[in-house]
Amino acid sequence: MKIAVLAGGTSTERKVSIVSGTQVCKALMSLGHDAVLADVFLGIDDKAYNAAFVDKCDVDAAVRYIRSFDDNVEELKKSRKSFWGENILKLCDKADIVFLALHGSNGEDGRVQATFDLMGIKYTGSDYVSSAMAMDKSISKKLFGAKGIPMPKSAVINADEKQVYPSDIGLLYPVMVKPCCGGSSIGCTICRNDEDYAEGIRLAFSLEKNAVVEEYIEGREFSVAVIGKKAYPVIEIAPKTGYYDYINKYTEGNTVETCPASLDEAQTAEIQDIAVRAAEALGLGGCCRADILMRKSDSRFFVLELNSLPGLTPTSLIPQEFAAVGINYAELCQLIIDIALEK
Ligand SMILES: Nc1ncnc2c1ncn2[C@@H]1O[C@H](COP(=O)(O)OP(=O)(O)O)[C@@H](O)[C@H]1O
Ligand SMILES: [Mg+2]
Repeated sequence: MKIAVLAGGTSTERKVSIVSGTQVCKALMSLGHDAVLADVFLGIDDKAYNAAFVDKCDVDAAVRYIRSFDDNVEELKKSRKSFWGENILKLCDKADIVFLALHGSNGEDGRVQATFDLMGIKYTGSDYVSSAMAMDKSISKKLFGAKGIPMPKSAVINADEKQVYPSDIGLLYPVMVKPCCGGSSIGCTICRNDEDYAEGIRLAFSLEKNAVVEEYIEGREFSVAVIGKKAYPVIEIAPKTGYYDYINKYTEGNTVETCPASLDEAQTAEIQDIAVRAAEALGLGGCCRADILMRKSDSRFFVLELNSLPGLTPTSLIPQEFAAVGINYAELCQLIIDIALEK
């Protein structure tokens, strides 16, 4: 198949996305597909566009080109009217399917998906409405609430409104403060007192206008991949120090990841059922991943969020969950495509 692998973009997770895209593109080529890696925002020049699906893609050269812009993206954004990079929509239109290796805003949040729907372009992952609802934690929480999905107590605060303290919304320290539409733990802060809280909301509001203030759940952390109504083996995430922040997510050796997680049968069934129901509540159809905590004091589970385009880097969680049932990385990429084509 002719597959356009889109990575990069303008979100805070740009760098992670480039790593996901590189791996995906190489894996798809190893399966014999005609895959092309492109940065959705930077695009490709006419020469590269004409060569796409004709000559074999030089993935390493493409990545070098994409990375050379890493420090200029913010500047470029100011000078650009359209999000779409040169020749990107034409490239996607020329492909049989687009593999979305994008994370975060303008990629995981439904806007790219909506454009493709209108253009009749096939893509991997979930539809635009589900993607948008999963990206925004304040919306996800409303849907989880409606479906009785267990989640930590929380409230949404807005930068333009009078400052709200945890005690005003019935929460005691510690609390977690995070941007509503973030990812990769960027902009998250554990707050143990008013001072931390002031810093936490300052950081979250530097990224966007809405933030979630959430009861801090002390305990164990898990993640569960879901495709359709099926949950894959549960993975436990245990950072050696601190919580599962950006550094612990992407630095090899910082976090002990155990898959299948050491949970008894009933607990495994329960967490998988919660993950499937949470994905259903948002209508997620592609391969998604539920982030779930287990409270130490009573072993109850709480859903934090659903990721509609989870990371596919070598250290990402999803590839490990599939490896536990004998599905290797390339097979996982193929499975993601097969599901998209079924839709
Ligand atoms: N309420 C909470 N209690 C304890 N830890 C939390 C809580 N919320 C988030 N975390 C920690 O922060 C990480 C990132 O939070 P998450 O809601 O998954 O946002 P992101 O979209 O950035 O991944 C989680 O993986 C977890 O380690
Ligand atoms: Mg998360």
